[in-house]
Amino acid sequence: MCGIVAYIGTKPAKPILLEGLKRLEYRGYDSAGVAVLDGDLSVARAVGRVSVLEDKLQQAGGFGGTLGIAHTRWATHGSVTEQNAHPHRDDRSGIALVHNGTIENYASLRKYLEGKGHTFHSETDTEVLAMLIGELFDPERGIDLEKAVQAALKEISGAYAIAVICEQEPDTLVVARKGSPLIVGVGNGEYIVGSDAAAIIAHTAQAITLDDYNVVKVTRDGFRTSNLDNVSLDAKIQQLEIDLEEIELGTYSHYMQKEIFEQPASIRNTLRGRLDLSEGRVVLGGVSNFAKELIKSRRIILAAQGTALHAGMIGEYMIEELAKIPAECEFASEFRYRNPIIEEGTVVVAVSQSGETIDTLYALQEAKDRGALTLGVVNVVGSTIARETDAGVYLRVGPEIGVASTKAFTGQVAVLAMLSLFLARRRFMSPDASTRLLKELNLIPEKIEQILTQDATIKAITQKYINRENWLFLGRGVNYPTAMEGALKLKEISYIHAEGMPAAEMKHGPIALITDGMPVVVIANRGAQYEKVLSNIEEVRSRGGHVIAIANEGDDRIGSIAEDVIYVPETAEPLSPMLTVIPLQMMAYHAAVLRGHDVDKPRNLAKSVTVE
Ligand code: G6P
Repeated sequence: MCGIVAYIGTKPAKPILLEGLKRLEYRGYDSAGVAVLDGDLSVARAVGRVSVLEDKLQQAGGFGGTLGIAHTRWATHGSVTEQNAHPHRDDRSGIALVHNGTIENYASLRKYLEGKGHTFHSETDTEVLAMLIGELFDPERGIDLEKAVQAALKEISGAYAIAVICEQEPDTLVVARKGSPLIVGVGNGEYIVGSDAAAIIAHTAQAITLDDYNVVKVTRDGFRTSNLDNVSLDAKIQQLEIDLEEIELGTYSHYMQKEIFEQPASIRNTLRGRLDLSEGRVVLGGVSNFAKELIKSRRIILAAQGTALHAGMIGEYMIEELAKIPAECEFASEFRYRNPIIEEGTVVVAVSQSGETIDTLYALQEAKDRGALTLGVVNVVGSTIARETDAGVYLRVGPEIGVASTKAFTGQVAVLAMLSLFLARRRFMSPDASTRLLKELNLIPEKIEQILTQDATIKAITQKYINRENWLFLGRGVNYPTAMEGALKLKEISYIHAEGMPAAEMKHGPIALITDGMPVVVIANRGAQYEKVLSNIEEVRSRGGHVIAIANEGDDRIGSIAEDVIYVPETAEPLSPMLTVIPLQMMAYHAAVLRGHDVDKPRNLAKSVTVE
């Protein structure tokens, strides 16, 4: 979602801000803007890509200062226009501000400020905050920019990460957060602020991560962290755990493609040091302190959104099948608002790549309030969800830049498999049975390597159906969520309408959609429900649908009943989604490229959704 970059130091701010914005493009946005302070404030904003803003700045000239703020906006309040793009300014004190999040009481504040004679030029909640800070800023009475920001933030409800500058304080940058992430990179005589590490890692690996209600005043000589009551706080400088190389495209055409192909390596990382094959045990340092409570848990609720939800649904199957603990996976957004019943022994697992998805975060907070033990299955180290859960397991798949999540999905499934076996082995599973499954898990990366060699075949199959506007994805058991994930991938980046569902559900309505030549992707690996899946394939065929089957190597029955077959190696059934999903990711990627879409910047989507 929206991205913030800010700079204060001795170098020209403009190129650093633009480069930071480009690194945050993956988060999703529809307009961009920059403000630089060089005596006066210069502001430029543009609808569309950062490159449009860059052209505009080139034509405009100027923007020569060493202090500035910049933003990519994903519209929430007000349409996608230049007026609504950030930075927003106040009308009295020379203040400019960029903001991520939403201010819930903006309408009443706007009324109040209009009553005080302020004139608004946008439909946004952000302009209200800029005006409010300007209204409170009163250097003659000792209310400097830092204090005005603190006072203004006390008046607002909602979520925010902000960066603010002011013509009257040419050596000050003030940043603050509640709910939306923000980090301050500490360089050599310079500071670079970013919504995430991607914006700053090219400059420094040292950073302060802000907590909720932290305000940081940054000058060229140092910084001070305080709360909204202006009480000074200690801020720890930490080492960022990403390398510039990890966020560069290298020889790939798109980040999504790179991340699909990284999966053997990323899962090896997820598993590294965590499987004790001789004892059939899983070693998860992040949850070991809570092993007793976890083993005795009576119910496990997994809460997530998007792709992470599909991983959580697979987790539900794995936990019940392997650890024999009742489990259910829910949309975090629904869990949060349905007055959930948390009884003694309930564990809530928040699954999230970014660790910042607001719905998942709020579900987690609700679960905590109601007394649940909370776990995080998160990729981004130090993210809000990772910090707020009682314990957790990191994915360790490295930064995921592609908006369509791929390696995080397989990482999440791998972690949930380990968590299930961690519990299973400590509850009742025999060392032999556990070792067998752990060995299978350990083989997943090389089996993915085998699937990736079929890239050309998978592209050719996708090409055959590229003009079809409606696809179905069917699966059963643990591969029903995989079918959902296949459909989600296709619609996210190729804009083809796709539905994923349990194969049996097709007969209860969706079968009416099947017409001549409609592509129906069926996950038909050998498993408990294999024969039933074959019957479903026949049902599709007899209505003229074209079946693309994902089957196991050596299956010679499937070739005679499906139009196309993509073969994947066999594995233990609960682990199979980590293999069956790979061809679905590859098909979605090829469909989007064949249709000429920008795979890494899909229409309307955001990488991390930080508004409800
Ligand atoms: C957005 C992204 C998806 C992601 C979902 C949940 O919709 O586009 O790829 O699966 O958010 O994100 P999280 O970071 O919580 O896994």
